[in-house]
Amino acid sequence: MDKKTIKDIDIKGKKVLMRVDFNVPLDKDLNVDDDTRIKKALPTIRYAIEEGAKLILMSHLGRPKGNVQDSMRLNSVAERLSELLDKKVVKLDDCVGEEVKKAISGMKEGEVVLLENLRFYAEEEKNDPKFAKKLASLGNVYVNDAFGTAHRAHASTEGITKFLDTSVAGFLLAKEIEYFDKALQDPPNPFVAILGGAKVSDKIMVIENLLEKISALLIGGGMAYTFLKAEGKEIGSSKLEADKLDIARSLKEKAAKLGVKILLPIDHLIADKIDASSNTRVVDEVIPVNWMAVDIGPKTVDEFKKELRNAKMIIWNGPLGIFEISKFSRGTEDVARFIASLKATTIIGGGDTASAISKFGLESSMSHISTGGGASLEYMEGKLLPGIAALNDK
Ligand code: 3PG
Repeated sequence: MDKKTIKDIDIKGKKVLMRVDFNVPLDKDLNVDDDTRIKKALPTIRYAIEEGAKLILMSHLGRPKGNVQDSMRLNSVAERLSELLDKKVVKLDDCVGEEVKKAISGMKEGEVVLLENLRFYAEEEKNDPKFAKKLASLGNVYVNDAFGTAHRAHASTEGITKFLDTSVAGFLLAKEIEYFDKALQDPPNPFVAILGGAKVSDKIMVIENLLEKISALLIGGGMAYTFLKAEGKEIGSSKLEADKLDIARSLKEKAAKLGVKILLPIDHLIADKIDASSNTRVVDEVIPVNWMAVDIGPKTVDEFKKELRNAKMIIWNGPLGIFEISKFSRGTEDVARFIASLKATTIIGGGDTASAISKFGLESSMSHISTGGGASLEYMEGKLLPGIAALNDK
């Protein structure tokens, strides 16, 4: 990693402004429903506390679009963090202004404050320099541990670094970069990618970037059906992006030129509707009219396993079927269980893929599960993320 981390700077007695991604799902009572992102930020938070920093945490939650929305306050996040740390976390009701300054000025070493949702100000997403300066004025040094938001050039992720001399990465951000860079810059051979999810359009740039590095690409999920249609297959009413057929063909041609194998589903679980009460069956090749593919079939799982068996590194982004509905989750689960049993380095993209791995209880069997959905996709596209680019070089 060519960026400085929190270990490279002195933080004792300093006001450390740390951007975290506490954009977590809340339940109907506004309690934290999944605390994974909070837990993953704990190593950096604990380190800052132990080193005697005055820790000021900041995050967004949801998309309030510049309005104060009580359902998107960070109150329950602060409570959960406090439980996990076994320590008081002072939650403020704003993220800039006199009240915030006053609260921060009285902080002692090792204390923790969490600011209110940054996106209650439209200036945050607009990367407004005046707002970024106000945020920056709250601290002495800046730490970014919010990989999940690193693809956004916002005031708290990018603009702020222009107003502070010291801007470094936290341990979570550094770990995410380390794993993705291992895969994208110097992967071992064989290196196999698994891509799924609903849309080809979301993954075109990822495929373009990965084709140069991988030995095989296994495609499942809704996006596979645009590739199959491009080969002239009957896909019934499965997901199709008709305007992406040419791109699907040209990606296959590029793969062939580079000697990269592309495996598409050879059998399918099909359903007459996307519902747990649907009628289902497994078919090879032809999907009848009015039926749609909702998961890869068992023969496809076997073919995928054959390709994955000898891989030294596997990167996976996008489920292979509609795993949220149990009867459509078999293909995603079988492939997940199989790669969990391998010695290969396994890197799982965030968002839906991470949720699937968690649903199957396989988190501890993977080498790295990203906390970034959009961020991991953009990183896999080969883009330099603004929240990372803005940090001090080593
Ligand atoms: C995420 O959940 O992907 C990040 O927190 C970014 O959120 P956003 O897509 O609303 O910018």
